[in-house]
Amino acid sequence: MNKLREIIRREIGPCGAISFARFMELSLYCPEFGYYERLANTPGRGGDFYTSVSAGSLFGRLLAFQFARWIEETGLERFQLIEAGAHDGRLALDVLNWFQSRRPDLLEKLQYGVLEPSLRRQRWQEKALNPFAARVRWFDSWEKVRRHGVRGVIFSNELLDAMPVHRWAWDAHGRKWFEWGVAVEGAHFVWQRMPTARESAVESPESKMFSPHRADCVPGFDLPAGLLAVLPDGFAAEICPAAVEWWRQAASALKCGRLLTFDYGLTAEEFFLPQRAQGTLRACHRHRLSDDLLANVGEQDLSAHVNFTALQSAGESAGLKNEGLFSQTEFLTRIAEAAWKARSVFGDWTPDLARQFQTLTHPEHLGRRFRALIQAR
Ligand SMILES: C[S@@+](CC[C@H](N)C(=O)[O-])C[C@H]1O[C@@H](n2cnc3c(N)ncnc32)[C@H](O)[C@@H]1O
Repeated sequence: MNKLREIIRREIGPCGAISFARFMELSLYCPEFGYYERLANTPGRGGDFYTSVSAGSLFGRLLAFQFARWIEETGLERFQLIEAGAHDGRLALDVLNWFQSRRPDLLEKLQYGVLEPSLRRQRWQEKALNPFAARVRWFDSWEKVRRHGVRGVIFSNELLDAMPVHRWAWDAHGRKWFEWGVAVEGAHFVWQRMPTARESAVESPESKMFSPHRADCVPGFDLPAGLLAVLPDGFAAEICPAAVEWWRQAASALKCGRLLTFDYGLTAEEFFLPQRAQGTLRACHRHRLSDDLLANVGEQDLSAHVNFTALQSAGESAGLKNEGLFSQTEFLTRIAEAAWKARSVFGDWTPDLARQFQTLTHPEHLGRRFRALIQAR
């Protein structure tokens, strides 16, 4: 048995079951043994899944071009780009390379911040970003970022869909929502219904926080009674308090500029379309999707769609203005059109970049799967 399985089994031991969110957190981020802690090459051909970053440098170049335009619009004398979920530092390198070759005047005014709680990943990033060592700074918490405040852009790619989610499901007979937890049976992890806060002898802060006020409400979704009347038994939906909290923290750190994320995601209503009955959680191993979320612990990626409606409201509550929710195709095409017109600034479109653009925007590749949410202050 691998070490991570042992750690999870031990944690489940005394309580009988842990929330799926805790299982996902340990599977992906357990120090030393979690999926994202162990391996730097998880995205890309040799890894388990492709991201827009692993398609090549075009994604970073287009973002850098857009960031430069936003910065010029705001007329900031000095500005910051803060990236979170930077993993091996590749996107940061693509962005900084573009500034260096195409807008060295702006590079002089730029400070690149990487928000990275893991020391191990920070080391991978330091190595990749060595050519820009003087421009890059690391933060391990929002508190440190907030101390100075951000004037510029805070952004992430496929960060929020990799945050731990709670998995809820509808019990049509009992007319109530319940949370799926993870228990152990012999050598396997298995799904088990979690006791609600009312049923549980011990009320943990977590069970209190995520327990709905009424049995027919699931936290984070405002469902009309008519929908519940027809919702099939077992219909599942995920909630991700960690992503909402991350967005709230980012919004409060942003003094002036934009907050931008690219993720798999849905609006709150889209979570309840008939084709989503099993929820949106999935596992990915060697470019194959799997529904077996509890298998291959620490060896497979786990992700769930982001609830963009919940993020939008968190940002609005912190005083941000919505600039839009776009498909990646729509968002990158707009930038590419401007970049095409300004080829002397952006650089030439080589056949290789044109191929990358296809991958990033084609609906069958990454174009429709990902969406970009932008808010501004
Ligand atoms: C799916 S990978 C995406 C990596 C990269 N952005 C890309 O597009 O190729 C998600 C990354 O987010 C990191 N991550 C998860 N939670 C984080 C957090 N709270 N702060 C910073 N990074 C985090 C993970 O460790 C992992 O490196």
